[in-house]
Amino acid sequence: MTARMKTMRAQFAGVGSYLPENLVTNDELAKTVDTSDAWIRERTGIRQRHLAAPHETCAFMATRAAEAALAQSGIAAADIGAIILATATPDQAFPATATRVQAALGAGGFAYDLSAACAGFVYALGMADSLIRSGAIRNAIVIGAEVYSRILDWNDRGTCVLFGDGAGAVVLRGVESDDAASPGVLSTHLHSDGSLGDILYVNGAVGRRDLPGHLVMNGREVFRHAVARMSEAIDEALAANNLARTDVDWMIPHQANRRIIDGIGKKLGLGENQVVITVDQHANTSAASIPLALAVAMADGRIKPGNLLLLVALGGGLTWASALVRL
Ligand code: ACO
Repeated sequence: MTARMKTMRAQFAGVGSYLPENLVTNDELAKTVDTSDAWIRERTGIRQRHLAAPHETCAFMATRAAEAALAQSGIAAADIGAIILATATPDQAFPATATRVQAALGAGGFAYDLSAACAGFVYALGMADSLIRSGAIRNAIVIGAEVYSRILDWNDRGTCVLFGDGAGAVVLRGVESDDAASPGVLSTHLHSDGSLGDILYVNGAVGRRDLPGHLVMNGREVFRHAVARMSEAIDEALAANNLARTDVDWMIPHQANRRIIDGIGKKLGLGENQVVITVDQHANTSAASIPLALAVAMADGRIKPGNLLLLVALGGGLTWASALVRL
């Protein structure tokens, strides 16, 4: 008789989120930006976004989201082995905003920021999953937190209408398992192509007062790569786990644009009731968009224990990534 091998798995133990109090509809935005509700909705599906007040820093929002996720998990902050904070808008160049969160939570272990733009949350999940699988740590918090309102050029109507602020967090619990069907992260697949760095970037640099650091985007080029790269990453994830598209209960894609999301859903043959969409409520919150969408769909009961979740994202870099998770 051969003993079945036990492996470590990273289970989703708690999910939390934070959205700034200031809710700005398209009509309200149109009072200060030369745009209209109709233009924004038709091209992106966005209806409103939350914009951070000065006190709602990256660390503040990340901490609130992590606190909610920890409370749901029942895991003590002292038992956390790592905090990985995905963000393109940290409060300072250093220390890492993740260490501010660690201090606020009273958490143990180590903490660092991860920069992979809109794919950041799935990258962070991949890193934490590897640390847990290897036995280096037992529990982790992965966070996506962004204050893009601080890096937008409010005179560029082509970009400033697309983004919002917020944070989402997931507490991962390492458990021993010998059963492939048990809950946990099944796989993550991460990619980047630095030759495409100039189609979506921030034009500032640390210490350059002449370059304030605003987001610059070639929207059409991003669109062209988004559907293709994310569809590939999805096929890769399913193939690696011998799963079919029909096995997926919910796809939670990065929430950049309704047309990109619909394009992927159509390519995969997923129905509307299998795709979580929050871009209408939150706009594009970059690394925060997937955990924010997850928190919404778990709170309203759409996503249930045992469901197979497919996370997929693409962002500046270009970076793109997918993850399959059994809840
Ligand atoms: N309100 C009104 N008019 C506008 C606005 C606005 N906010 N922004 C641009 N326009 C005008 C332009 O001036 C232009 O007018 P013109 O024809 O008279 O010159 C016209 O609308 C078309 O402008 P384009 O920039 O060509 O707009 P496009 O149709 O490409 O749509 C969009 C822009 C929605 C950004 C599109 O390119 C897109 O969906 N891109 C996908 C990328 C994306 O969503 N990125 C988000 C961040 S990246 C990420 O998270 C992966």
